[in-house]
Amino acid sequence: MPRKLLVTSALPYANGPTHLGGMTEMVQTDIWVRFQRMRGHQCTYVCADDTHGTPIMLQARSEGISPEQLIERVGAERRRSFGAFLISFDNYYTTHSPENKHYTELVFKALDDAGHITRRKVTQAYDEQAQMFLPDRYVKGTCPRCNTPDQYGDSCEACGATYSPADLKDPLSVLSGTRPVERESEHLFFRLGDFEPMLRKWTRSGTLHEAVANKLDEWFEAGLRDWDVSRDAPYFGFEIPGAPGKYFYVWLDAPIGYMASFANLCARTGMDFDAYWRPGGDTELHHFIGKDILYFHSLFWPATLEGAGFRKPTGVYVHGFLTVNGQKMSKSRGTFITAERYLEHLPPEYFRYFIAAKLGPGVDDIDLNLEEFATRVNAEIVGKLVNIASRCAGFITRSHDGRLAAALPDPALHAAFAAAGEQIASLYEAREYSSVVREVMALADRANQYIDQHKPWLLAKDPARAAEVQAICTQGLNLFRVLMTYLAPVMPAMAERAARFLGESESSWRSVASPLLGTRIAAYEALATRLDLKQVRALVEPAGEPAPAKVAKDETGLVTIDDFARLDLRVARIVSAETVEGADKLLKLTVDAGGESRTVFAGIRQAYQPDTLVGRHVVLLANLKPRKMRFGVSEGMVLAAGPGGSEVFLVTPDPGALPGMKVK
Ligand code: MSP
Ligand code: ZN
Repeated sequence: MPRKLLVTSALPYANGPTHLGGMTEMVQTDIWVRFQRMRGHQCTYVCADDTHGTPIMLQARSEGISPEQLIERVGAERRRSFGAFLISFDNYYTTHSPENKHYTELVFKALDDAGHITRRKVTQAYDEQAQMFLPDRYVKGTCPRCNTPDQYGDSCEACGATYSPADLKDPLSVLSGTRPVERESEHLFFRLGDFEPMLRKWTRSGTLHEAVANKLDEWFEAGLRDWDVSRDAPYFGFEIPGAPGKYFYVWLDAPIGYMASFANLCARTGMDFDAYWRPGGDTELHHFIGKDILYFHSLFWPATLEGAGFRKPTGVYVHGFLTVNGQKMSKSRGTFITAERYLEHLPPEYFRYFIAAKLGPGVDDIDLNLEEFATRVNAEIVGKLVNIASRCAGFITRSHDGRLAAALPDPALHAAFAAAGEQIASLYEAREYSSVVREVMALADRANQYIDQHKPWLLAKDPARAAEVQAICTQGLNLFRVLMTYLAPVMPAMAERAARFLGESESSWRSVASPLLGTRIAAYEALATRLDLKQVRALVEPAGEPAPAKVAKDETGLVTIDDFARLDLRVARIVSAETVEGADKLLKLTVDAGGESRTVFAGIRQAYQPDTLVGRHVVLLANLKPRKMRFGVSEGMVLAAGPGGSEVFLVTPDPGALPGMKVK
């Protein structure tokens, strides 16, 4: 019986480009989806951009565009990368959609009507200059426990203490650099505790990996607290009906975005929404997520669904994080690799293969070690798998007009390959991709051994043995065909090219049991090429120096608007200022250029007392080529007027200009 599955990946935030970490999740999901489809199931895969919330609102503001413009731009870029990585969505939508508004309001009303929403006043940090309530991460100050300065409002990176922004010593708003005040506001809460018995049962009903279910037990022990689902204006999201100036918190409408994306697909295709979202049907609902968003998907989400009369997920699959050469992906270390950057250097299917080779069903992090990446591609894809085809193809096309032999010389070997299909299918089903790859590579070794033993290249020297050569190569190509089919969910485009080369329209799981005999193959074209380690390392090396733009030497001395546009001028806030040992003209400034920290050595020491500078807003030239100085690297320049020495005057923007805003 074909199953009916609806599968999702987490909805990426719409404020930045897709990086290889996010792509890892898409690849993991897509492999599963393609596998299900190949097995004849009806598998629908939806996703969307997660567009709401404070960071997106503020980023749009700092770029001087509307949030709608920002999410439009990011959405377009993202769709391109997902297409290039062969992610086979049935629908990629957005949470800023009429469908999502509809279902969010519907869910909320159902929860409210059933008594699962309570209202109460909360006190929160408020920035009077920016005129908004501050999420915990937008307040920084000194840790109340260990006194480390410059810590976020929710936890200390130095000692691990967790607290609320009000507990910080010397709190400052990240937005304006001013001291926040406490302000009261009414919020709406979802009573998660109402669902504890259901959740305890659901988490142990095969929906979660055991290690993940154990993690949940810790949360049950700690107690399920009410969940604040409202935010005050200004906020980019959906306004709550009947509560002017209040918005649904992004994490309420984000998972509902799964429903909305599916509803949008149903409207186009006539699929039945209720069959997938109302309880009691024969459909399945599967979510793939990263470990950082487990709480939302294993507690809030099933409780929300249950409370609003919808079905609960069949499975929630949690993966770990992708690291690069053993390190967290980070912009400053150069290990933050965007999908676009990857595509400039390497073929996307090699990434898919590598991820499959590393991924199991557990939550362990996986490391993209670049040497291992090159080695695996060269030794496994090129050296083992594709090698089978390239060793056999020429003899068939050159001496047999492309025609395969009428019988296999070793049918038992082929049957053994075909029989491995069920075992490999159950590994895919259980998301044991690394075992799939191991099994397939072990079979590839056997296929290569077969060819080594029969040495078609020696036999081919004797025209009397041509039929033998044809038979051996027919055997080899049929073994290759089985393996390429097993890897089709991982490398779908390569599998398609292999199928065409073998004279088939597609690779199908079921047909591998009957070998191709007496049919014609096409001329062989390389299905994969070796990687040079240099090519792989280029992923993390700084992009080559951009060719210096030719500033027209025009005797009027005028610059064009394009020349000016090359300067990345931004508002920045001085976070700290220190004197520099051995340099009596310099101050070492740490500035916040909109969530990004820079070190700048500025020749203003004779004009300013360092401590008077902290919190000041300045204008930063952010794309000045970093300069290595005796004391460290200077990553920009702050603008100042005046002849120098003690007569230097920092350029300060008017109040209201926030760190990160472009100056143009
Ligand atoms: N918008 C939320 C999800 C809402 S789902 C209703 C979000 N977005 S995200 O862009 O930050 O992350 C999207 C997914 O990518 C998450 O599942 C997250 O765990 C995953 N990853 C983000 N960085 C990752 C790695 N470095 N490695 C693997 N997955 C990573 O969270
Ligand atoms: Zn601390």
